[in-house]
Amino acid sequence: MTRMAKPTHPAWIAMDELIEEKLLGRDPVLEGALVAAELAGLPSIQVSAAQGKLLYLLARMAGVRRVLEIGTLGGYSTLWLARALPAEGRVVTLEVEPRHAAVARENFVRAGLSDKIELRVGAALELLPVLAAQKGPPFDLTFLDADKQHNADYLKWAIELSRPGSIIVIDNVVREGAVADETNEDERVRGTRRVYELLASERRVSATALQTVGVKGYDGFILAVVNP
Ligand code: SAH
Ligand code: DHB
Ligand code: MG
Repeated sequence: MTRMAKPTHPAWIAMDELIEEKLLGRDPVLEGALVAAELAGLPSIQVSAAQGKLLYLLARMAGVRRVLEIGTLGGYSTLWLARALPAEGRVVTLEVEPRHAAVARENFVRAGLSDKIELRVGAALELLPVLAAQKGPPFDLTFLDADKQHNADYLKWAIELSRPGSIIVIDNVVREGAVADETNEDERVRGTRRVYELLASERRVSATALQTVGVKGYDGFILAVVNP
């Protein structure tokens, strides 16, 4: 799969380094998960450390107990989220690539967090109806970070599986501004534009988007809450 170039700027990198050093600190478990993913040849497209901590903080701030994640990769963002949960908390994370899932599973064990994480392997659009049919408690936070072409469908499922007050975070919604270009024909960009279109008329959620810069270049995420 072709990936978009990720131009970055020395000051963005220096700032992420400062943020990591002063606000995050060294974290051998999370660093180990990144090394394992890299050794296994997984693409380095996980959230940055600063963004991972944001997911963790959102979950803590909102007292989140149940998390749904779509797009596990090596489980880096999953670990950040799982750490934020109380003892009985759970992350359900969906991943289509068995090779990615295998790396993630080992990372969950090494982190001592496999009890809190349920990894389901398959295409999210096939797994989500199964999850819904199981009629578990709603998810308090959903993180959408898989194939961008299906993000509007994932968002609809996320709303279905939520309750009033649930948080929905959607990654990669800026893409160096490509998402603002309505002539862009990249399916990932078009998929993300459909998310904005859906949110423009979706009265069940209230949303904004934050543009971000840093070690991962120029991108951003949508932050939404399900309305009462
Ligand atoms: N959330 C991770 C990064 C996920 S990268 C982190 O920040 O650490 C996107 C992942 O979504 C990849 O592992 C990819 O294999 C997976 N993916 C792609 N299409 C998918 C689909 N249809 N269903 C489930 N997962 C999918
Ligand atoms: C890609 C996917 C991501 O989730 C991300 O954060 C960055 C890049 C990609 O598919 O290129
Ligand atoms: Mg992403």
